[in-house]
Amino acid sequence: MTAAERQTNGQGEAGTGLYPSYVSMDEFIDVEGLRELDGYITQRLNDHIDRNSDPLFLNQHRLEKGTPYQPGVREIWLTRTVAGTPYNYLDLDKTELWEFTEAASEFTLLVDFIKRLPFSAFGRMLLIYDDGGRTVPAHRDHEETDVCHEFVWMRTNMRKPFYTLNPVTGEKKYIEGHTAWFDTVNQYHGSDAGEGLTFSIRVDGRFTDEIRGPIPFDRANSAATPAIWAAERGGRA
Ligand SMILES: [Fe+2]
Repeated sequence: MTAAERQTNGQGEAGTGLYPSYVSMDEFIDVEGLRELDGYITQRLNDHIDRNSDPLFLNQHRLEKGTPYQPGVREIWLTRTVAGTPYNYLDLDKTELWEFTEAASEFTLLVDFIKRLPFSAFGRMLLIYDDGGRTVPAHRDHEETDVCHEFVWMRTNMRKPFYTLNPVTGEKKYIEGHTAWFDTVNQYHGSDAGEGLTFSIRVDGRFTDEIRGPIPFDRANSAATPAIWAAERGGRA
């Protein structure tokens, strides 16, 4: 795709200089406690790999349409919407809709850790993993610029090469720490192939008032809120 095609592909905000960007959430969480979960989660993911029955990650809003809709990466849902809820991706922060799955009982220490994250309520909780050296092609999570999802992306080790991407300039920004919150709509994101087992965890919900306080939520393109906040923090990741 050429830069001109990208410009006409709904990427108006991408030229604002805000992208690629993310906000590190490391200062708000117990990073050491997260790192200590590495072996625990790895062991349980290896059991899941042996069972080979987890659902595939679906990559709907891809930058390059020729990249796969199902890149082969797998998911474990620690929460799901209550029975009878029609599927709507935008519900992932409607905290009243979500309840723990059976899989959550396999990952109790992770769930305990998640409960200590700075959220006042929780929505979707998801593990995404791969042991086949697969990439997750650059994508957006949805296309609604007036929707800002409050979430923490996190990892217990540094093996998953995860990036945000400005589709106009092609510039990538790799996440350097253990956590991130980023604009999933006006910029793209994805991961390169890693070695061995790679995984990350995404938790959605509503941040605590303490966290929300300094966040510049009140704007038209609210999906850009994490990018605005990153810029306000002096471009500091
Ligand atoms: Fe995504």
